[in-house]
Amino acid sequence: MNTHELLKIENLSVNVSEKEILKGLNLEVNEGEVHVLLGPNGAGKSTLGNAIMGNPSYEITDGKIFFNQKDITDFSADKRAAEGLFMSFQNPIEVPGIRLGTFIRNAISAQTKKPIKLLAYKKKLEEAMKILGMDNNFADRDLNVGFSGGEKKKAEILQLLMLSPKLAILDETDSGLDVDAVRTVSKGVKEYQKRENGALIIITHSTRILESLKIDKAHILIGGRIVKSGGPELVEEINNEGFEKYEQVVV
Ligand SMILES: Nc1ncnc2c1ncn2[C@@H]1O[C@H](COP(=O)(O)OP(=O)(O)OP(=O)(O)O)[C@@H](O)[C@H]1O
Ligand SMILES: [Mg+2]
Repeated sequence: MNTHELLKIENLSVNVSEKEILKGLNLEVNEGEVHVLLGPNGAGKSTLGNAIMGNPSYEITDGKIFFNQKDITDFSADKRAAEGLFMSFQNPIEVPGIRLGTFIRNAISAQTKKPIKLLAYKKKLEEAMKILGMDNNFADRDLNVGFSGGEKKKAEILQLLMLSPKLAILDETDSGLDVDAVRTVSKGVKEYQKRENGALIIITHSTRILESLKIDKAHILIGGRIVKSGGPELVEEINNEGFEKYEQVVV
């Protein structure tokens, strides 16, 4: 048994609305590692993220998920978050009536089950917002309501910095960001890694967010399965040649 093993997915099959999307997927992520997940539209990348997080709309029909050597396959989403799992969503939802700052505070206390010292929290929040170049008044705005696309993504990375998970799944966090915003978000992601030795699964269609990160492994997901795993050179290969070569493997 590898003591540094953080996430282990065995033969995972997942149905969405009664349709099988993931078909026996295997994946292992060790502590502190950066993994990149590539694949064509509709391959099942976001589905995998949602299934790891325990979203109840994603029904696990076969296989197991282990986190920190614990079988979390039947854990609720809240319990998984408390174990140290986090996902930054491809399309963050707007939540009127709950301020961003309050939302993050509630999420932290739900996970630690301890009251938060308000002053220390505010200081930490302001520091994290500074890293992300976010104006302090964002904390008082309703969660994602009226946020621009880029601001929503930054709010996700703010949650990442504040929650300090053991594993973060970033689902197209770089899509729709301008050049400077990609740099800022990358800075936030690097800061998370440095502080927490945090592991990452980065789902992306572009390589911009990867430029400042050291990638350990890359995987290609097609048709609900990982059809190829390799090192950072795989990202380069897909960039140049696309998925065609691997699509033929899928039956
Ligand atoms: N909540 C849902 N309801 C219905 N179908 C869904 C749902 N979530 C995913 N699917 C379907 O599952 C398939 C895989 O979707 P998924 O979002 O995982 O793809 P993806 O690899 O993330 O693609 P993209 O690169 O476009 O984000 C798609 O055919 C999609 O329509
Ligand atoms: Mg997706």
